[in-house]
Amino acid sequence: MAEIIIKSEQEAAEMAARTIVDAIKANPEFVLGVATGSTPIKVYAEIAKLVKAENVDVSKVKAFALDEYVGISKDHPESYYQVIKVNVTDQIGLRPENVNTPSPDIKTVATAGADYEAKIKAAGGVDLQILGIGRDGHVGFNEPGSSLASSTRIKTLTQETLEDNARFFDSIDDVPKHCITQGIGTILRAKHLLLLAFGESKAEAIAGALEGAVTSSLPGSAVQLHPHVTAIVDPAAGSKLKNLEYYKWVYENKPSWDAI
Ligand code: PGA
Repeated sequence: MAEIIIKSEQEAAEMAARTIVDAIKANPEFVLGVATGSTPIKVYAEIAKLVKAENVDVSKVKAFALDEYVGISKDHPESYYQVIKVNVTDQIGLRPENVNTPSPDIKTVATAGADYEAKIKAAGGVDLQILGIGRDGHVGFNEPGSSLASSTRIKTLTQETLEDNARFFDSIDDVPKHCITQGIGTILRAKHLLLLAFGESKAEAIAGALEGAVTSSLPGSAVQLHPHVTAIVDPAAGSKLKNLEYYKWVYENKPSWDAI
């Protein structure tokens, strides 16, 4: 069972950052899987604070993003290349050559997925993958119906995702309809999954992902197949969990020797 922890968004960010920075201290060649979207923004800020305050060497840390729009310019402020550059690479002080996002270039569509998988493998795999979840249950850009064994490939976004992401663009018509995303199989190969969700709009997806049937109709439910999942959600995102009281009880009684 995933470990499910209820915290405010700020507390969750601090807890996630502490875990990640301690892991980097223990392994300077740590490979961090990063997500875009609003959910992990505070986590990156907290990691940056700790790295600075504790003078942590991040020169060998590698990062891999989950996904990218297809056909967007890398210079576009909403390309995930730029979003990761601003929030992760520059803020935390990672070396740009150690930070990877899938290629948005239409010319490389046929090979970009396999190339990205090869890069992740060559880095030794992702040590910890940060995950948000969409209202429709997507993780990365794996929309409902995605194979639970999928690798990095091109997908078509749902109307709901286009609507959710329209806030970052001038209009919904400017949101690219295609993306390249790590597959669910790729995500499941990471050694530790850290799923974060905040707000009432995520409550249904979180309950389905953590307590519902494992199904490609709710791609986030694939985390139940992974042996090491930590879900940190705020009270609103956790409000539809049936066994909420038990998760709280488990956490209150967490042994001091048991890291997340
Ligand atoms: P959000 O998106 O973090 O902006 O809510 C999550 C997702 O779509 O995976």
